[in-house]
Amino acid sequence: MEIGLDLGTSSVIGLLCEAGVPRAEARRALTTTSPMPYASEQDPEDWWRAAREVLAELVAGLPEGERRSITAIGLSGQMHGAVLLDASDAVLRPAMLWNDGRAHAECSALREALPGIGTLAGVPPLPGFTAPKLLWLARHEPQVHARIAHALLPKDYLGYRLHGGYATDPSDAAGTLWFDQAQRCWSGELCAISATDPAWLPPVLDGTQEAGRILPELAAELGLSPKVRIVTGGGDAATGAVAVGAVEDGTGLISLGTSAQFLQAGTGYRPNPGAFVHAFAHTLPDRWYQMAAMLNGARPMAWFAGVAGVEIGALLQEAAAVPEARVPLFLPYLTGERSPHGDPHIRGGFFGLEDSTSRAAMMRAVVEAVAFCFADAVESFGAAAQGPAALPALGGGAQSDLLLQSVADASGLTLFRPEGATSGPSLGAAKLAALATGALSRGDLAQRPDAREVFSPRAQASLQDRLERWRALYRALKPLAQ
Ligand code: XUL
Repeated sequence: MEIGLDLGTSSVIGLLCEAGVPRAEARRALTTTSPMPYASEQDPEDWWRAAREVLAELVAGLPEGERRSITAIGLSGQMHGAVLLDASDAVLRPAMLWNDGRAHAECSALREALPGIGTLAGVPPLPGFTAPKLLWLARHEPQVHARIAHALLPKDYLGYRLHGGYATDPSDAAGTLWFDQAQRCWSGELCAISATDPAWLPPVLDGTQEAGRILPELAAELGLSPKVRIVTGGGDAATGAVAVGAVEDGTGLISLGTSAQFLQAGTGYRPNPGAFVHAFAHTLPDRWYQMAAMLNGARPMAWFAGVAGVEIGALLQEAAAVPEARVPLFLPYLTGERSPHGDPHIRGGFFGLEDSTSRAAMMRAVVEAVAFCFADAVESFGAAAQGPAALPALGGGAQSDLLLQSVADASGLTLFRPEGATSGPSLGAAKLAALATGALSRGDLAQRPDAREVFSPRAQASLQDRLERWRALYRALKPLAQ
C-alpha cells in the first residue's frame, strides 16, 4: 500500500491507496494569514503538525501487518511558495504562498533584467512565484535574506521533515521562475537576477524517484516500516494531472479548488507567454504541460457564502433558480489574477446591483464569474484548446452541478466528473509512489478515469453577451486598481 500526502492551501489531505485505488482518507484544515496588504502566509510548522496527524489517523485503524505493508509515501503540494531555512535548518519566517502578491515591483525588475524571461522560465514573472519573493526579501527583509541557506517548495519542506534531506521535482521547480523549462534544470541566469544563490536550491529528481527513507523515529512513532520510501511527487497541478492520466499529448483537465486551472499535457515544451499561459515541466520525464492558472478558482463561492452567512450548498441551490435577467456581474479577482491578465492589483467587485438584488442572484453572479474565467483560459490557449474531447473536473468546486454546467456553457468545453473528484492531487501523489515501488506501471498512469456525469456546453447568445460585458468591466476597472 502507499499513501499520497497533499499539502493543499485549505487542508492537508492524506489518501491511503492500494496500487492507486483509494482505501481511506484523512484531512486537517489549515489557516492562512494576511499580515499586510497583498500578503498570504502559512506557518510550515502547522503543515507538519497537520501532516503528522493525517498520517497517524490513516494508519490508526490498520492491523500491524497492514501497517507494515505500506511501502511508500508520495508528496504533492501547493506550488510556488517560499520556505526558507537557515544553516541549521530552522524556518526563517512564515512561508510566503502562491497567492502572495507583494513582489509585484520585483516582477517588473525581472522583466527588465531579462526581456525573454517568459520563454525561458515558462511564463513571465508573476508575484506569487518563488524567485520574485526572494528579490522582495532582499529589498524588504534583508536580515532574513542574509540568513537563507535553503529555499524549498512547500511539499519539499514536508519531504525534509519526513526523510531529512532536500529534493524537489521538475513540476514544482517549474513554478519558481528559477527553472529552465526546456532543459529541465535550474538556471544560473534566473538565479543571478533574483538575488538567489543556486546552492540554496535542492536537487531536482523525477516525481517517481525516491527522495529518501522515512526517518527512523517517525517510522517508530507511526508503527511503519523504516524502509518506507518518501517519493518526490509533484506540484498539485501536476499531481492532479497524474490522478486523471493527463500525461500524454492531448490529455488534460480542469481543476476548481482554492485556485483553478485549465491544463493540457504533452510531450513538448510549448511556451505561450503572451497570455500568461504557463508552460511547465511535468513531474514525469519528457513531459510538459500548458496551463491557464486562475488565482481565485472556486474560492469566491466559499467567500461569498461566508459573507452572506449561508451554507454554501443551500446558497448554490437558491442561486440555480435565479433568472439570468436579475443576475449582476461579478469580478472574481479577490487576490488579483494570473492567467490571462497577470494583474496582481485588480480586486473583486459586483456591478449592476439593484434594490431588488438578492443574495441568490449575487451568488449566481459569482458562479458565472468563475465560469467566465475558463472562457478566458480557453481563449488564451488559442487553437491548442481544441485538442481533448471531454475533460475531467477536479477539486471541491467540481461537486457543484451548477458550476460545472456554467463552466461548460461559458468555455465550450465538455466536462465530466470522475470518481474521487475531491482528492485529485493526493491520488496523483499516491500513484507516483506506487510507480516508485512497482505497484503501478507507466502504462497504468496514463489510464483516464470513467465519467460519472458529463456536462456538455449549451450555446446561448445571451451568455456571450454577458461574457463580453464582463470582459469590458475588467478593462474599465483595471486603471482604478493600481
Ligand atoms: C498552480 C497554482 C496552484 C497552487 C495552489 O500554478 O498556483 O495550483 O499550487 O493550489
